[in-house]
Amino acid sequence: MTESKIKIIWSNKNETIALKGDSWFSAAKKAGFEIPTGCLTGSCGACEIDVNGETVRACISNIKNKKGNILRVTLTSDPFWDN
Ligand code: FES
Repeated sequence: MTESKIKIIWSNKNETIALKGDSWFSAAKKAGFEIPTGCLTGSCGACEIDVNGETVRACISNIKNKKGNILRVTLTSDPFWDN
């Protein structure tokens, strides 16, 4: 079976192609998009991104395929820090 390519549309309007299992950080770098980091162990939430409406912690997740092979990514917003 061949790996299907996944198109990622970033909130900076750049688009990149990734494969299932790729790192969110390397994909973001290719797009010129910066995912903030903190603990890198999955506990602080600094790296949270919104992928097709679902919150993902980039440091403990890899890119997964979704129906249609298109992922739309934005940074999640924190209501406590967005005032
Ligand atoms: S960097 Fe802390 S949860 Fe990802």
